[in-house]
Amino acid sequence: MDLGIAGQVAVITGGARGLGAATAQSLANEGAFIAVWDRDEPSAHALVREIEAAGGRALAVVREVASSDEVAAGVAQVVAAFGRIDILVNNAGFSHLGPVAEMTDAQWASVVGVHLTGAFNMARAVVPTMKAQRYGRIVNMSSLASMGADGMACYATVKAGLQGLTRALAVELGAHGITVNAVAPSLIRTERLRASPVFERLNALSLRGQAIQRDGLPEDVANAIAFFASACSGFVTGEVMFVTGGIRQLW
Ligand SMILES: NC(=O)c1ccc[n+]([C@@H]2O[C@H](COP(=O)([O-])OP(=O)(O)OC[C@H]3O[C@@H](n4cnc5c(N)ncnc54)[C@H](O)[C@@H]3O)[C@@H](O)[C@H]2O)c1
Repeated sequence: MDLGIAGQVAVITGGARGLGAATAQSLANEGAFIAVWDRDEPSAHALVREIEAAGGRALAVVREVASSDEVAAGVAQVVAAFGRIDILVNNAGFSHLGPVAEMTDAQWASVVGVHLTGAFNMARAVVPTMKAQRYGRIVNMSSLASMGADGMACYATVKAGLQGLTRALAVELGAHGITVNAVAPSLIRTERLRASPVFERLNALSLRGQAIQRDGLPEDVANAIAFFASACSGFVTGEVMFVTGGIRQLW
């Protein structure tokens, strides 16, 4: 299937590593120009070099999504370089795990800042360009943890909040040719998670509940995002696609 995104411009926050990097590679392989938006400068530049070495076009945007000033400047940088923005993937994120009574104000604020304020800042900044084009695709990164998970009060809250933002923006922006959807993965075998001391235990638990008996891989998530980011998904908006190997269906 031709995704119809060759020559389109995709901004991927948290695009330098993990699921964001897998998505950047996948959209670049389809001919999209990629803004690798990440606060990790060396990793963002390294991925840009990789995409360019494979014959693609990419730009590193080293900015903090939680800051509205940084976001406005970064979006202006992308428009100056590529002239348009067709696709926004709100993927940047991290979490602080632990019991709610032990969570500090700063931890709570930083998680809300990157996921919720970050996605809001990015959407607000790109929507005028997408409206002028009468075309846009926004994909938000939620999580299976949005259903509730032990030690993840803040993370579950923001990931559920992103689903609300997805549905509200879908209603508001549909008339302008802009679709807004979300993906909600379970545990995915990224470099960062593989390095975690609890990964193998969580992965075993996850496998026990999955219909599909293999690990979730970054490309599984990138493929789901690619569909929502494509021209082929124009009649689909306000949806959340769970990418979990069938875990949710077994609860
Ligand atoms: N890996 C999983 O199992 C999994 C499952 C469900 C959802 N997710 C979500 O997917 C997204 C990516 O996760 P990942 O596992 O690839 O993480 P990762 O740590 O490998 O990559 C995240 C990237 O985001 C960047 N980033 C973080 N905060 C930022 C900020 N404020 N501004 C700009 N860049 C920032 C980091 O520098 C990093 O490059 C996150 O939103 C995460 O919550 C991950």
